[in-house]
Formats: sequence, structure tokens, C-alpha cells
Amino acid sequence: MTIDRIEGLRLLTGDYYLQCHVAFEAASNQQSMILKWLKDNIQLLIPAQKEGKGDVSVLSVGCGSGILDEPFIRIMLKHWSTIAYKGIDPNWEECQAFESRMNEFDSQQVKTRVLCQSLEQFVPDRTYNLVHFIHVLYHFDDVWQAIQSALNFLQPGGTLLIFHTPDNELNSFMKSTQSQLAGYVPLLSSQLKSLLDEHHVSYQMERIKATLDVTECFNLQSPLKEKLLSFIVYADVRQVSKKNQGELLNTLKSFTFRNNDRYHVAHEVDVFRIQKNG
Ligand SMILES: C[S@@+](CC[C@H](N)C(=O)[O-])C[C@H]1O[C@@H](n2cnc3c(N)ncnc32)[C@H](O)[C@@H]1O
Repeated sequence: MTIDRIEGLRLLTGDYYLQCHVAFEAASNQQSMILKWLKDNIQLLIPAQKEGKGDVSVLSVGCGSGILDEPFIRIMLKHWSTIAYKGIDPNWEECQAFESRMNEFDSQQVKTRVLCQSLEQFVPDRTYNLVHFIHVLYHFDDVWQAIQSALNFLQPGGTLLIFHTPDNELNSFMKSTQSQLAGYVPLLSSQLKSLLDEHHVSYQMERIKATLDVTECFNLQSPLKEKLLSFIVYADVRQVSKKNQGELLNTLKSFTFRNNDRYHVAHEVDVFRIQKNG
């Protein structure tokens, strides 16, 4: 059975997307590894700004609920006293969650704003020190156009940061479901590399080797089972028959390795760092 023939798969949207995303991130160590990378490399990202002086400006494209933006801002606050941080995302529920998360910050120190818009709709009123796409570029049919827009939003010397998934077994699900439901196959990081090379864009790239604990998918009693499976296949599986969900789980199990009685899958992410000419 190939997964693009599975009946009942639907696009993941709205509040259910948010719930599935939260369940997925809780099962992975990838976000903490991304945050560690951001902490270790913060000086490379905004080199033009002197520590403690002036504000830094960041645009988070596809910010989602801000689950990563909030701790990233806390890291930035150790280096800069004022931060202008804008998020854009077309998912209204995620934008609401982003806004309430950002209420935690002192508004004198951190000026945050979220716009419920796609990148295609966004008209910037300033330029940024840093623009980032964290697991967002899969949503674009024309990835080069999205990258070009982001480069145009940067100040000279600014950084475009892309966290993007490599071709691996886990992503074979997303490739099939996006092709079936969104009408195109998302580009993964080897193709992103080729795209940047083709357009003569210089970048630094490195791989973060995270893992995802998928044990709850195989626990019949678990309330997280369908949410985790939905985010893994990147489609809403609630309308998929139990028999076909079982087929998806068998495929998933074939990708796993055991670690202390838990099932894990590789969940790497590649980081691309692009510096705009100063
Ligand atoms: C996998 S989530 C990543 C969220 C967040 N960056 C993170 O890492 O937690 C992808 C996000 O991209 C958003 N998105 C989809 N199409 C978009 C577009 N055209 N422009 C901007 N964001 C988009 C989705 O709504 C979703 O919140």
C-alpha cells in the first residue's frame, strides 16, 4: 500500500493543526537542539549589531504558535536590550497562540507583532537583521520566490536562516500527503541546496541530528496517538479507517529503532545560513 492511496486523509488545518504540532514537538528533541544551535551561533546571525546597543529586528515567517520564537527571544535578550520581533502566519489559531505567548514579554524590551498573513500577502514596512523560515518552506510551490522575498526584506549584512528537513524515511509520508492534498511535492534540503547553487547564493549548511519518540503512536490508549500520527504524515488522519491507520503505523514502525523500550525515528534538520551582502 502506498500512502497516497489512503482514503480519508485531509489537510491539517486550524486548531487541530496546532494540537498536532504541540504533540509532535513534545515528542521530539529537535526544538531543544535548534534552540541550542541558535544560542551557540547567535553572534553569527546578527553580527552587525553590537552587544547591548540598539535594537535588533527579526521576521519569523510561518511563526506558528511561537513555540520556538518565545525561547529564541529569551536567548536574544541576553545580548540585546530591545528587540522588534514580527511573526507572520496564515493560520489564525496559531497567530492567536503566538500573540498570547508574546504577552509574557515586557513591551518596552520586546516589541512583538503577529500578522495573520501568508508570505505572499506580506508587505513589509521596514527591513530586518534576521529573517527565518523554521520548517516553513515545504508550504511553497515556488520556493525560490519565497527566498527572494525574504532576501529583499533583509538589511545589508542581514541573515536569512532556514531550518529545513533532509530527505529521510520520516519525510516520505509528508512528500506523499502534500502531493495528494496540496498538489505539489515539497522540496527537501538536498533540492534546496541545488536551488541555492543554481541561483549562485552562498550559504553555510550543517545538520542537527535529532530524534522523534513515536512510541505513543503504537499505544492504543494514548490520547496523543492520532495527533502524533497526523503530524508525522502531515495530514489529518481522523477520517482514515482504523485498518488504514494500522497500515500507516506498520510503515512507521519499519522506520523505527528501539531505545530503552521506546520507538524512535531519525528526525534531523539542516540549517542553511545565508548572509546578504553588506
Ligand atoms: C511546521 S509549521 C512551523 C511553525 C514554526 N516555524 C515552528 O517551527 O514551530 C509551518 C507553518 O508555516 C505556516 N505557513 C504555511 N504556508 C505559509 C505561507 N505561505 N506563508 C507563511 N507561513 C506559512 C503554517 O501555517 C504553519 O504554521
